[in-house]
Amino acid sequence: MNSPSIAGLDERFQLAQVVVQEAGKLAFHYFKERDKLVIETKRDPQDVVSIADREVEELIRSRFAEAFSDDGVLGEEYGLQNGNSGFTWVVDPIDGTSPFVNGMPNWCVSIALLHDGSPVLGVIYAPCFDETYAARAGGGATLNGNPLSLSPDKTIRNAVTGIGANSHVTPAFVARMVESLLEAGGNFIRNGSGALMLAYVAAGRLVGYYEPYMHAWDCLAGYCLVKEAGGWYHPFPTGQEQLTRGAPVVAGGPGALDDLTRIAGIDAASLAHT
Ligand code: IPD
Ligand code: CA
Ligand code: CA
Repeated sequence: MNSPSIAGLDERFQLAQVVVQEAGKLAFHYFKERDKLVIETKRDPQDVVSIADREVEELIRSRFAEAFSDDGVLGEEYGLQNGNSGFTWVVDPIDGTSPFVNGMPNWCVSIALLHDGSPVLGVIYAPCFDETYAARAGGGATLNGNPLSLSPDKTIRNAVTGIGANSHVTPAFVARMVESLLEAGGNFIRNGSGALMLAYVAAGRLVGYYEPYMHAWDCLAGYCLVKEAGGWYHPFPTGQEQLTRGAPVVAGGPGALDDLTRIAGIDAASLAHT
């Protein structure tokens, strides 16, 4: 596979793979002690957070600041800090906080790196499964070191599609989205971690993922993984104004492209793929 030469990318990829493990171990420590966590709510009672999310993000930020002090960082808990290197890290310290605080294993640490508006690196670690997903632009995607490659034979009709929803979208919209998927012969799963479900798309476990409104930290690492595994995604708006806002998230394997773009109402010509 051809590798575009982005100066400084390889060093950052190496570091991200170390940091995601360290962050995952800290998160896993809190997961095992979760009965002692004080759970706070954010936008609504379903949107939860604890000291675990904040400490894991602080750890990740400090590791990147030590090594690449000119890089920007956007994290869910502490917002956007601009840099001047041309690289911006995009971090969700714990994606799947609801499963995390409720004692289910579907959560992960998600780290992406933006360059020229595109995710050029994505690493996701799911501590309860000891699974590390890693991708670098032009370098392919791996799961625990094994290459991932998507088959065009899987469609929404013979495989499962991941979906997600939150209080940014109306119940009626979510109902229509599920209805369209089922009417097209598909079926769905929601495990509570959009980032992990995108990693599952890259691994071929899910044929696609659709959530009407998510943030950059939820999707960019997964997007890089899916593309590098041979899939496609609907680009997330990464301009200065839009990066901290939400947008529709849609990604999938080659065999889900026509159906999922139609169901999500997006233009297939706008997609990013290899
Ligand atoms: C959430 C999860 C969930 C998705 C939500 C996200 P969080 O992230 O990815 O699956 O449906 O839209 O906000 O709060 O667990 O980091
Ligand atoms: Ca998230
Ligand atoms: Ca989170």
